[in-house]
Amino acid sequence: MRSRILLVEDDPLYAGMLFEALERAGHPVAHAGTVAEAVELLEREAFGVALLDVRLPDGDGLALLRTLLELQPGCSALVMTGHASVESAVEAMKIGAQDYLPKPFPTEVILLKLERLLRTREVEEELRELRARAPDTEFVGQSPKVRRLLATVRTVAPKDANVLIQGESGTGKELVAEMLHRLSPRAGGPLVRVNCGAIPASLLEAELFGHERGAFTGADRRRKGMLEQAHGGTLFLDEVGEIPPAMQVKLLRALQERRIRRVGGEAEIEVDFRLVTATNRDVADLVRQGEMREDFFFRIAVIPLEVPPLRDRPGDVPLLAQHFIERLSRAHGTEPVRLSPEALELLERYPWPGNVRELENVIERLQVLTPGDTITPRHLPPEIRRTRPAEGMVYEVVSTRLTLREAVQRFERRFIGQVLAEEGGNRTAAAARLGISRKNLWEKLSAAVTER
Ligand SMILES: Nc1ncnc2c1ncn2[C@@H]1O[C@H](COP(=O)(O)OP(=O)(O)OP(=O)(O)O)[C@@H](O)[C@H]1O
Ligand SMILES: [Mg+2]
Repeated sequence: MRSRILLVEDDPLYAGMLFEALERAGHPVAHAGTVAEAVELLEREAFGVALLDVRLPDGDGLALLRTLLELQPGCSALVMTGHASVESAVEAMKIGAQDYLPKPFPTEVILLKLERLLRTREVEEELRELRARAPDTEFVGQSPKVRRLLATVRTVAPKDANVLIQGESGTGKELVAEMLHRLSPRAGGPLVRVNCGAIPASLLEAELFGHERGAFTGADRRRKGMLEQAHGGTLFLDEVGEIPPAMQVKLLRALQERRIRRVGGEAEIEVDFRLVTATNRDVADLVRQGEMREDFFFRIAVIPLEVPPLRDRPGDVPLLAQHFIERLSRAHGTEPVRLSPEALELLERYPWPGNVRELENVIERLQVLTPGDTITPRHLPPEIRRTRPAEGMVYEVVSTRLTLREAVQRFERRFIGQVLAEEGGNRTAAAARLGISRKNLWEKLSAAVTER
């Protein structure tokens, strides 16, 4: 699809001539004769290139250029003027215009410049896509659960369906959201992130939907909301479980109708984005407790993804540790430190309640605090040094965000798994030690499998 061109020119003769030439060359064009008209168009639709006259009846084209780049940072601008001066040319380029043309000029010249601009944009777009298709080196991990997760991410990313990412804190949910965007056809558009937990409920509506000037005290200028800013791209609502039910209703309506109204505004504005949400809370529980509306849940969780906790990803800890060590040494221009086998073993045994984020922090601290070039157990923080569980002990870290039932279930699974492992997978022996029947053990195991 060719990008739309905005032509801002007040001289009717000039405007008509350019408009026709552009259309004949196959470019979709919209015309504005004044600054006000141009701003209105810019607020309504996205343009690839803008051709701006400098002197306009109601204002200055250079000021319009600033507004344009604020409203549509991705738009390329070409400034044309009959009052050419070196200063205004320099000024326009400083503000961010791609090119400058003194009037009069033959229409072929502007068509050529335009083609070149569009071609550059296409190349940039292709580069972005190429980079996006590079193997996902970023989400480090080889464990079966991570492989399965990444395969699903690659399958669903190009679809436009809403994705809900669940997982404990620090597991990499935001990284998954970024991958979903990067691997989607919307990769060239914006990825707008809103941390719903960090915004007071009273401000959330204006933040999401934007507001008109004077909509409330302090609203001294019109502001685009995050939904509008995500137009053409991906909207990532982090900590979606913190959105109050009343706001869920409004969001739901926006998602269904793909239109919004700014706070204090009348006009309906079309919005087109892919919705990705994330939470570290148990969504089923939120729905049960009435904190999340069921209709909202169904709408956002068309595709649910689960990012597993680090303790359930055997083998990933060394990979991640190495990844962080290398990244840090690259950033600091130093030799990467080494992990002694004993230190590595302790890292692997530690249950990582803070998941990948905690591991990242530990490695950062070690890199700074280790005097030599090798990290040994005595360099490790005490909680990790003390991890080694005594023989025959079970160690399970459970988030207090879970319900009692879920917490007990997790412990039960870990406990049964450990006993089974100690009995070399012999179910009869394990059941006897657990004090339950073989049938009961079998039921518990198959329930654990089907729920995964
Ligand atoms: N698989 C991974 N490979 C490389 N880095 C990772 C991986 N998972 C997480 N990280 C890094 O760990 C940190 C925490 O990840 P992220 O912010 O995505 O977690 P989160 O699930 O969104 O956590 P929270 O629920 O607290 O917001 C980030 O710096 C991220 O880059
Ligand atoms: Mg996060």
